[in-house]
Amino acid sequence: MSTHASTQPVYRAHPAPLLPGARGLGGHLSRMASDPLALLSEARDHAPITRLRFGPIHALAVSDPAAIERVLVTETARYPKTTRSYRTLRLLLGDGLVTANGDDWLKRRRMAQPAFLKARIAVLADRMVAAADDLGDAWAESATRGEIVDVHADLNHLALRIAGETLFSADLTGEAAAIGEALAVGMEEVDRLINSGLPAAAWWPRPRNLTFWRAVRTLKRVTDEIIAARRAEGGDHPDLLGMLMGAADPEGGGGLTDRQLRDEVLTMLLAGHETTANGLTWTLHLLSQHPQVVARLAAEHAAVLGGRRATAADYRALRYTEQVVKESLRLCPPVWIIERQAAQADTLGDVHVPKGTLLLLSPWAVHRDPRLWPDPTRFDPDRFGADRPAPGRFAYFPFSRGQRQCIGDRFAMMELVLVLATLLPRVRLSPVDPGPPAMSPRITLRPTHGLRLALSPAPAQ
Ligand code: HEM
Repeated sequence: MSTHASTQPVYRAHPAPLLPGARGLGGHLSRMASDPLALLSEARDHAPITRLRFGPIHALAVSDPAAIERVLVTETARYPKTTRSYRTLRLLLGDGLVTANGDDWLKRRRMAQPAFLKARIAVLADRMVAAADDLGDAWAESATRGEIVDVHADLNHLALRIAGETLFSADLTGEAAAIGEALAVGMEEVDRLINSGLPAAAWWPRPRNLTFWRAVRTLKRVTDEIIAARRAEGGDHPDLLGMLMGAADPEGGGGLTDRQLRDEVLTMLLAGHETTANGLTWTLHLLSQHPQVVARLAAEHAAVLGGRRATAADYRALRYTEQVVKESLRLCPPVWIIERQAAQADTLGDVHVPKGTLLLLSPWAVHRDPRLWPDPTRFDPDRFGADRPAPGRFAYFPFSRGQRQCIGDRFAMMELVLVLATLLPRVRLSPVDPGPPAMSPRITLRPTHGLRLALSPAPAQ
């Protein structure tokens, strides 16, 4: 039993309880495909570690913070990203930082890490704010006419522009429609393939698959163009692309091949904008329902900024805005599920984990656990106030934890806070449709039909 940590009571390990409701050959598969958020919440309420069955695949839904710590931090090497979802995502993104494992992952992480140091991100703040300001101008204009806008579409466009300008110094505004559409098609198909249960489904010459491969070609073309433009330009660029290309120099040894470079650019483009766009969208949805929070934000923005543009230096003072972002990432985490696979047998608490088991760690389910969060569905940014105890590191993990924690976490927090501080003083956002927007828990948690909000001029401060 040397594979078990000595602190684990191995002799008492038993199989996790199976969640009731597994039907026929598929088990819980159809519910996982139709309403995974409800299924994972039910699994959380059933037991801290609950067994699910998806056809022949056995999975454990893990919502116990100590077990989450073991999977993500203390025994992370036992739990690689070798799951079917990551293999399928590779069809779209290739082998980038998000999907790689082992030494390949470590090499890539070391190359990219310097681009995400605090001091470097601070330099990018002005570009984030300038891009948000342009959207603020457009919204202010629409507000004078009382228009309704799909803020999800606008924020997607904004986040893509910010990712292009800050990570690659590339202007993607002309390409935004093509990239946005190709990514949307690509992600929808990846999601369908993950849920189809058939190993080779992507290779059948069906119309949907052909559309998928066309989207992949578009994404490759755009990333190749970004790289070619940089090569033609030459010179030193202190952005992520410059760092990755410097490392790709054959003289440098051990760098990235052209193909690896392309995979990394595409990965960063997707990981760097899809999540932030959805995080901003859910935040605006929550704010449209909570005018008293908006009023407190307005007071903070007036006191800190007094009508001028935000800078990186303002970030620390925008405390309440940061609390709002944290609370929004708690209630609506853009990455709603984190998957791992047990490379060896293990024990989590007193539960036996057979080799090959799929592990499902859901920020959505854990962030709404009534045992960890009082009144969990209430939007209350004061939970993150300085006078409150910090939530446990494994009760709150919108960016994951451990060595595979999001590399862009600081970048994302800076972007979300500064974009909100730029947009909110410009307009008032009011709900149009009754009830909460339908949610699509796909690769990220996105609104199914966008988010329509009515714009009107912001009240004078
Ligand atoms: C609100 C915004 C964001 C959220 C909620 C988020 C969340 C996450 C989570 C949960 C993971 C871990 C996934 C897993 O292990 O299965 C992750 C990984 C990653 N994220 Fe983010 N992310 C955000 C923004 C960003 C941004 C802005 C970038 C890049 C600029 C980025 C780049 C990455 C990369 C490259 C990884 C893989 C890291 C590795 O495995 O070494 N993310 N993100």
